[in-house]
Amino acid sequence: MDFHKITEAKEYILNQCDEVPSIGLILGSGLGSLADEIENVNYIPYQDIPHFPESTVKGHKGRLAIGKLESKTVMAMQGRFHYYEGYDLKEVTFPVRVMQNMGIDKLIVTNAAGGIDLNFSVGGLMLITDHINFFGANPLRGKNDDRLGTRFPDMTYAYDPELREVAKQAANELDIGLYEGVYLGVPGPSYETPAEIKMARTIGASAVGMSTVPEVIAANHGNMNVLGISCITNMAAGIQDKRLTHKEVEEVTTRVRGEFQSLVRKVLASM
Ligand code: HPA
Repeated sequence: MDFHKITEAKEYILNQCDEVPSIGLILGSGLGSLADEIENVNYIPYQDIPHFPESTVKGHKGRLAIGKLESKTVMAMQGRFHYYEGYDLKEVTFPVRVMQNMGIDKLIVTNAAGGIDLNFSVGGLMLITDHINFFGANPLRGKNDDRLGTRFPDMTYAYDPELREVAKQAANELDIGLYEGVYLGVPGPSYETPAEIKMARTIGASAVGMSTVPEVIAANHGNMNVLGISCITNMAAGIQDKRLTHKEVEEVTTRVRGEFQSLVRKVLASM
């Protein structure tokens, strides 16, 4: 990853907005509407930003939304880049590098995920305590750029314990149930088989999804503090005797996004 590309993207973005963001937000499938609540918002389409990955998906309307939410200046990604779309993990994590280069040191990542823990219900929110990387790849592979981070970054506190406390407190005050668990990141795009989900439960995963892990690795490499929240949009394959559909994922995120948005707003207010 060329450092000058990161810097050029950052400079382009900062030229478009009045204030330098201090918190990054990556909004997962169906959860992008939180960006519509940002005040004094500046939208920047990904295609306008130098060196941002080029969209391979038709009708993809990814953009940054920069402005104020709960009096914090945030830079939100309305839509992210997924590995299954064909981007490599350096491309998937490029926006995180741009955030890092801007001085953003707190990142909230969100996603839709399948529930593996049998105590979970569809529509619940899960605080990510840790992850398992099943991408079979790592965004840091290759020559290390010491300006971005150290060669062998520690991942012990990949999901910042203090931010996790803030989120639990916020959920408590709002009377929103918040599960906790380990997110298993898989490449997709096919959903898992029931056998894979059985294995995932055995190795300690509570939920599964096709994003987040690469961004969180890059963010930790860049010394950012990360908070992760999953929306449990379906029970993972084989738990219920029915097929998984993307339609169900979309329907559930639409249903839950009110709660999700209040939770993230409350977290931002206490950050
Ligand atoms: N598996 C993988 N990714 C997902 C799922 C799932 O069950 N639900 C939402 N994203």
